[in-house]
Amino acid sequence: PYAFDTFPYEIHTIEHIAHLDRREREQAIRAAGYNTFLLRSAEVAIDLLTDSGTSAMSTDQWAACDATRATTGNSAAYQKLVANLQDITGYEYIIPTHQGRAAEHLLSSILIKPGQLVPGNMYFTTTKLHQELAGGVFADVIVDQAHDPDDDFPWKGNIDLEKLRALVDEHGAEKIAYVSFEHCVNMAGGQPASMDNMKAVYAWCQGQGIPLIFDATRCVENARMIQSRDLRYHDVKIRDILREMMLYGDGCTVSGKKDFLINIGGIQAFRDNADWADRARHLLRLYEGNVTDGGLATADVAAMARGVEEMLNDRYIRSRVAQTRLLGQMLIDGGVPIVRPPGGHAIFLNARRFLPHIDQDEFPSQTLAAEIYVETGVRTMERGNVSKGRNPETGENYRPALELVRLTIPRRVYSNDHMRGVAEGIIRLYQRRDEIRGLRFVYEPAQLRFFQARFE
Ligand code: F0G
Repeated sequence: PYAFDTFPYEIHTIEHIAHLDRREREQAIRAAGYNTFLLRSAEVAIDLLTDSGTSAMSTDQWAACDATRATTGNSAAYQKLVANLQDITGYEYIIPTHQGRAAEHLLSSILIKPGQLVPGNMYFTTTKLHQELAGGVFADVIVDQAHDPDDDFPWKGNIDLEKLRALVDEHGAEKIAYVSFEHCVNMAGGQPASMDNMKAVYAWCQGQGIPLIFDATRCVENARMIQSRDLRYHDVKIRDILREMMLYGDGCTVSGKKDFLINIGGIQAFRDNADWADRARHLLRLYEGNVTDGGLATADVAAMARGVEEMLNDRYIRSRVAQTRLLGQMLIDGGVPIVRPPGGHAIFLNARRFLPHIDQDEFPSQTLAAEIYVETGVRTMERGNVSKGRNPETGENYRPALELVRLTIPRRVYSNDHMRGVAEGIIRLYQRRDEIRGLRFVYEPAQLRFFQARFE
C-alpha cells in the first residue's frame, strides 16, 4: 500500500533566525567564554543545544492553554492529564511537577537512605546530583557497548544484569535504594533499551525486593526504536508498546519538556505505592506548589494533557526519529565520527576521534562545540569531561570514555533542509580539524560546572 510518508503536520507560525558573519560569531563565542550555554540565543542560527523545552506546540495545545481557567484547585486540565497518563502508563498515581529535576528531587528524597547505592544505566547530570544530595551513590550498570561509540549494538541503553547481580551480591539488596532505568539514554547518545531487557531486569528486581523506577523522559522515542528494531513489534502501535514498557517498572520520573511536547512541566508517577505517592505530594507542596499543578500554571498543565496524546501519533514519532537518523547518516557519509547507531533525540559527535590531538585536560568536546558555532552558527552542547566534572577525592578532571558533542534536535521545529545545512557545515569543519586547539578554564563553578564555566 502507498504510504504518504511526510511530516504529519504543516507550519502555522514561523520564527526568524539570526545570521551573523564569521567575525561576529568569533566575537560572540569569545564573549561567551567559549561556552555555548552562554551564547545569546539571538546569536544562534540553528539551535541544537537541547531538545528540552524547545518543541513547537500544536494549535490544539495552544487552544487548550487558552481555554483553561487559571484556577490551581483541581482544574479540568489536571483531571485530563491524570486520566490520560493513567491510561498511557497504567500507573495509578500521577503527580505533576514543574519539570524533571523536581520529580528527581521528590523521588530521591523518598527512596534513598544515606549510604545506599542507586544503580542506573549511565548517569544524567541532575539525576545523579539529586541522588547524591539524598546521600545515595550512583553505580553505573549499563552494558559495556554503551561506552564504545563505534559499536553498532541496537540496544546500547540496556542494563547489564550481570553487573547488577554482582553489585547486589557484594552489598546486599537492602543496600540498593532502587534501580534507575532511563529510556533512550541521553548521555549514551539517545540509545534505547530493549523490551526484553526491561522485562528481565524488572523480574529480577522483583525477586530481590528492589524497586525499579524509569526515567521515562524519552519513553516514546524508545518505543519507536522498539517498533523499528524488534521484528515482533513492527505492527504494534506506539501506544501499546509504551504501555508494555511501563509494565516493567514501579514508577517513573519524567521531564515533560522532551517527548511530552511541552516547554515546561514534568511528572512523578507510581504504579500502586500509596505511601510513596503521599510522601511525594507532601514534598511537592513544600517545595513546588499545589499537588494538582506541581507549581505550573494551569495552561501548562493543559498543554501537557494534550501533548501526551499527540506524542503517541505513530506517524509523528516515526518522522521525528527518522529526522535524527537522516542527520546522522549525512555526517557518517561525510566521514565525521559520530556515536553509532544514531540515537532518538540527538546525534553525538565523537570528539576524541574528531580532535585526537587535543588531550582531555584541554576539553576536546568543549572546544569542538565552540568551533562548530564559529564555523556554522549552529549551537551544540558539550557532553564530555566538562559535564562529568572532577573526582572529589583526587580533584582531577574525570577522563570519561565518551567525549561527545551533542546535536540535539527540537521536536517539530526544523526541516530536513536545516539538517542538511548543519551536516555540510560540520563536514567542512572536519576537513580543517588539524588547525583546532584546546581550551583552559578561566572560571570553574563547583557544581554542574558546564552551565556557567568560562574558558580561554
Ligand atoms: N532526565 C533526563 C534523561 C534528561 O535528559 C533531563 C534533562 C532531566 C532528567 C531533567 O529534566 O530539565 O526537566 O529538569 N535534560 C535536558 C537536556 C536538560 O538538555 O538533556 P528537566
